[in-house]
Amino acid sequence: MCQAMNRSLLNVLVGGFGGSAAGAAAAKGDQVIREVSLNDAAIMMYYSKSVMVVPGYGLAVAQAQKVCKEVDDLLSKNGVDVNYAIHPVAGRMPGHMNVLLAEADVPYPKLLDLDDANGALPNTDVVLIVGANDVVNPAAETDPGSPIYGMPVLQVWKAKQVIVMKRSMRSGYAGIENPLFFYPNNRMLFGDAKDTLSKLTSELKQMS
Ligand code: TAP
Repeated sequence: MCQAMNRSLLNVLVGGFGGSAAGAAAAKGDQVIREVSLNDAAIMMYYSKSVMVVPGYGLAVAQAQKVCKEVDDLLSKNGVDVNYAIHPVAGRMPGHMNVLLAEADVPYPKLLDLDDANGALPNTDVVLIVGANDVVNPAAETDPGSPIYGMPVLQVWKAKQVIVMKRSMRSGYAGIENPLFFYPNNRMLFGDAKDTLSKLTSELKQMS
């Protein structure tokens, strides 16, 4: 776990990364946040070849695992290849995401570990991030001044299109801004994960 977080054991136990939520400003200067509507998000995923779901702490808080599997089922029925990218420290305890997804009966072979997911992401049409933040933060690779610099992350920005589902622009556990939210191939889908996924199932059902 310490290796996956690039932190010392003491730091992990004490918690935090030295960033502060207050320091996690929203858009800076001319940075632009692009939003996507529920309908457009549904269309984007339904007519894609592949979707990679990235679950994080927010999925656990919202208890959105079962409705997430429903979205998976509706997409898979239309021939979309749906998989899950599992970061080793996504959530708040080891194996957190695996337990939740198993509870929702997501077949184990659909769960890709960090290396396999990073291998697959450049060939992925749409990444759907459900309440994850630090584990998809490109600053871990690009910003030597970042508290999470050096932590292995899921390289979601390499996919064709990214959709981030969360309630706000607030930071995650590390308390730092995430530049991914301003990338040109990123779209924000604001709302509680369970509620938003459930609305997505309604949109997808109308298309089936
Ligand atoms: P985080 O970086 O903590 O981000 C979770 C995001 O979920 C938040 O930014 C939050 O944004 C969103 N969220 C919260 N409630 C939500 C809801 N109801 N619906 C939708 N979104 C919601 O999570 P992560 O990416 O999973 O990373 C885990 C972090 O925890 C890492 O920094 C890791 O090092 C640390 N950590 C992990 C462990 C283990 S072993 N897993 C142990 C200790 C620490 P909004 O508030 O905008 O919704």
